[in-house]
Amino acid sequence: MNTVIEAALGQHYTSLTADGSSTQGGTELVTEHTFRAAMAALPTGVSVITTPDGDGVWGMTVGSLTSLSLRPPLLLVCLHRGSTTLELLAHQGRFAVSVLAEDQHEIANAFARPRTRGTAASSCTTADGLPVVAGAVAWFTCRHQHTYASGDHAIVIGAVEHAEHRPGEPLLRHASRYRRLH
Ligand SMILES: Cc1cc2nc3c(=O)[nH]c(=O)nc-3n(C[C@H](O)[C@H](O)[C@H](O)COP(=O)(O)O)c2cc1C
Repeated sequence: MNTVIEAALGQHYTSLTADGSSTQGGTELVTEHTFRAAMAALPTGVSVITTPDGDGVWGMTVGSLTSLSLRPPLLLVCLHRGSTTLELLAHQGRFAVSVLAEDQHEIANAFARPRTRGTAASSCTTADGLPVVAGAVAWFTCRHQHTYASGDHAIVIGAVEHAEHRPGEPLLRHASRYRRLH
């Protein structure tokens, strides 16, 4: 871990062991498997973050989209720290978030896999100068405001410049499966 980040985390610094469990001050914490399984009980929406990449589109599927502030309007997503998307967002300075509709699970899978990302980019249209997923139930365009590293992920905060929504049901993720509201 980067020493600046280690210093910022101070006493909350957590180290990973080979079996995926964590220690904090020598005390063993919950294993990765148990944590993942328990968090899978929490239903989430499924969104795709997109940003221009040369002439094309770079995107990534996230379940961690959260509204952060109303005044000013801010949102956040949590991205793993090895993520190419994380680097690109900060570099490009702007990004879009599309909240997927209930029939868009193939797009969610495609943007979660590097190999199929290129084909999934064809599902995007342009709005407010950024790529957004056509047919999404909502989309936001954002200016990158901050990235805060914590653990093996980083919190990316976007200042929302434009937001749209349309009637329609969202795609959900629960217990490691895609679900519909009805
Ligand atoms: C439903 C779903 C939700 C996901 N949510 C997140 C998330 O919130 N944060 C994250 O870092 N990865 C998440 N992932 C995994 C990323 O989409 C996947 O690792 C992607 O390939 C990362 O791209 P990158 O590392 O090239 O930037 C999710 C995947 C799926 C299928």
